[in-house]
Amino acid sequence: MQRLKDLVEARIAAWCAGLPALGLYPPMAYLLQLPAKRIRPIALLMAHELYGGKAEDVLDEALGIELFHNFTLMHDDIMDASPLRRGDATVHVKWNTNAAILSGDALLVKAYELLGRDPRALRIFSQHALEVCEGQQLDMDFELRDRVSTAEYMEMVRLKTAVLLACSMRIGAALANAPEADVERIGEFGERIGLAFQLRDDLLDAFGDPQRTGKQRGGDLLAGKKTWILIRGLEKERADGLDALQVELRKEAGSRNVERMIEALGRSGVRAEAEALVQGLETKALEDLHVMNVPMERKAPLFVLADQLMARTQ
Ligand code: IPE
Ligand code: IPE
Ligand code: MG
Ligand code: MG
Ligand code: MG
Repeated sequence: MQRLKDLVEARIAAWCAGLPALGLYPPMAYLLQLPAKRIRPIALLMAHELYGGKAEDVLDEALGIELFHNFTLMHDDIMDASPLRRGDATVHVKWNTNAAILSGDALLVKAYELLGRDPRALRIFSQHALEVCEGQQLDMDFELRDRVSTAEYMEMVRLKTAVLLACSMRIGAALANAPEADVERIGEFGERIGLAFQLRDDLLDAFGDPQRTGKQRGGDLLAGKKTWILIRGLEKERADGLDALQVELRKEAGSRNVERMIEALGRSGVRAEAEALVQGLETKALEDLHVMNVPMERKAPLFVLADQLMARTQ
């Protein structure tokens, strides 16, 4: 895993070093060079090696996926009004919103350049990139709705986050000439692990250590995001005749008492319930991997990746 991370970091650093020093480009280099996990490009490389390819041959595609991810983050931080990303100021705060929109757009163009070289990669990428936008739109729509079901939430999360992990793995496998059925199977594993990944992200938003996540504590609660924990928290509150969460949600976003909301979620047992749900999803993903028809030693890196994502605090 470290070998693949090093390859990805070196490719990103070289790409950033080649960017012009003015205009659209400094925000790209800034965001890309803040410390990050790089799980999507690593997953692409792992899937490629799983089916007999060499990581060094698909570094452009791995870079393309990370550029796309950073495009989504730059725009996501505007949409979510987030002040912090990867432990530092977000692009729209450090520069301004227009700079973040345009640099983000340019990152998307660059991602297409890299992923457009092979028609198989391009087809998979275009399909999933559009789904990410659909998921982000649902995320925005849900902010404005009073009630969202956990099933609707799961579909939103599948689109906004899980499909990009699936996409990365499918591209890695397809470029190693894996049979279509295997490309699908590795995609399903990516999607499962991706669902768990976003649920854990939602948990970390409220209960993680901001020093480690590099994001504002309780940012989702402040924005009124219908995350699984908030949906369940509201359900429980209604059933128990309580209203701490609802009282805060009725306030303007900027004046919500996030600490009170976090406390209510812990007290009602929603935190523990969410933790169990995430662990269940992670276990299912690992079971998928166990039964996958590939020699165990080839699968070992994917188990390492899954283990790291399960234990993550950032
Ligand atoms: C953040 O992605 C956006 C989500 C889908 C939760 P990561 O948690 O992978 O962020 P970085 O790239 O490591 O900073
Ligand atoms: C991010 O979801 C999904 C995409 C960027 C497509 P979040 O909004 O939860 O991600 P963070 O918490 O800001 O990283
Ligand atoms: Mg966000
Ligand atoms: Mg968001
Ligand atoms: Mg989040």
